[in-house]
Amino acid sequence: MKGKGLNELKDLKQISIELILENQNNFGSYVASPDYPVYSYSWLRDGSFIAYSMLINGETDSCLKFLNWVDGTIRRYKFKVEKISEKLANNQTLNPEDFLSTRYTLAGMEAQDNWPNFQIDGYGTWLWCLAEYCQLTGDDSLIEKYQDSILTTIDYLAKVWILPNYDCWEENGDKIHPSTLACVYGGIEGINQFFKTKELSVLSEEIRKFILSNLTKDKRFPKYIGSESVDSSLLWLSVPFNIVEPNHPVMKKTVQVIENKLLYEGGVKRYPEDTFYGGGQWVLMTCWLAWYYLEIGETQKAGKLFDWIKMQSDEEGNLPEQVYEDASDSDIVADWEKRWGNAAKPLLWSHAMYLVLVQKFNSLQS
Ligand code: BGC
Repeated sequence: MKGKGLNELKDLKQISIELILENQNNFGSYVASPDYPVYSYSWLRDGSFIAYSMLINGETDSCLKFLNWVDGTIRRYKFKVEKISEKLANNQTLNPEDFLSTRYTLAGMEAQDNWPNFQIDGYGTWLWCLAEYCQLTGDDSLIEKYQDSILTTIDYLAKVWILPNYDCWEENGDKIHPSTLACVYGGIEGINQFFKTKELSVLSEEIRKFILSNLTKDKRFPKYIGSESVDSSLLWLSVPFNIVEPNHPVMKKTVQVIENKLLYEGGVKRYPEDTFYGGGQWVLMTCWLAWYYLEIGETQKAGKLFDWIKMQSDEEGNLPEQVYEDASDSDIVADWEKRWGNAAKPLLWSHAMYLVLVQKFNSLQS
């Protein structure tokens, strides 16, 4: 039974915080999902948003432990960025194994498998999360403490942002994705609040201009450059990375298409062509649309989504990655279940986005 009796037990906010703390290890990393073997790693993307959700909900230590883990991990693999620079200087081709990983073992080591690792969004997102930490706590000593890993990340992003790489759903590695670039932009802008260099402003402006000069025919953001499709991760372009304001016409048009094509029975899907477990509604993307609604003052719409999200938790308060009960193609679902088991639950990132939303609602009331 979903979402039932939770209030009598404990509220979902408390459950989410406890779940995230339980699944953060001594290294500081967060496992993506404790009960789904394929997700027994720590992703920079999931982790940065999880750390952010902890930060804004008063669990600053958890956020700090994660930031420390990323700092150590990036320093461990700094040699790869040096090698990339060398190869580029000598006009040599870059190979998939040259790039930094999207996910690591919980101890911060690369996994020896064939995962599509060239995904750069998480490197932007960690810089953004770090900047948020320094702003919110008023403690910017980390900028100096992590200087080496920050500069390595910036150097890496400056060199590779324009190359096609896998999107935040780990697909379409031959394309360039506005939501990935938004993460890079957000990270560079965030960190430049402390560095204040012309070079970084020029870089982030170049990325912003590139995104804005690659819209669809009907003047909205595309799923990837050259595509006419849509993706709910395009919400990131305004919330939180602010390529454009939430009320900007291009963003509004994009959201209209998200509502028309991806909002289904109360929850938000990733993109129209999604086949992962039949392409259900993702809890975390539903949180994102609600967060966007709060930013434009559509509180009622946000409230409706919030109710749907809470209904997706099970008796223990676990939130899944996605809900795919209505998937039209049961064969596809069966194939995935055979391959990887039931879809991930609990997913820490779903809980994190729930926590972000709770905090955004609360801050409206204060
Ligand atoms: C999602 C990624 C996510 C990973 C771990 C993948 O299925 O597409 O966005 O980072 O799972 O949660």
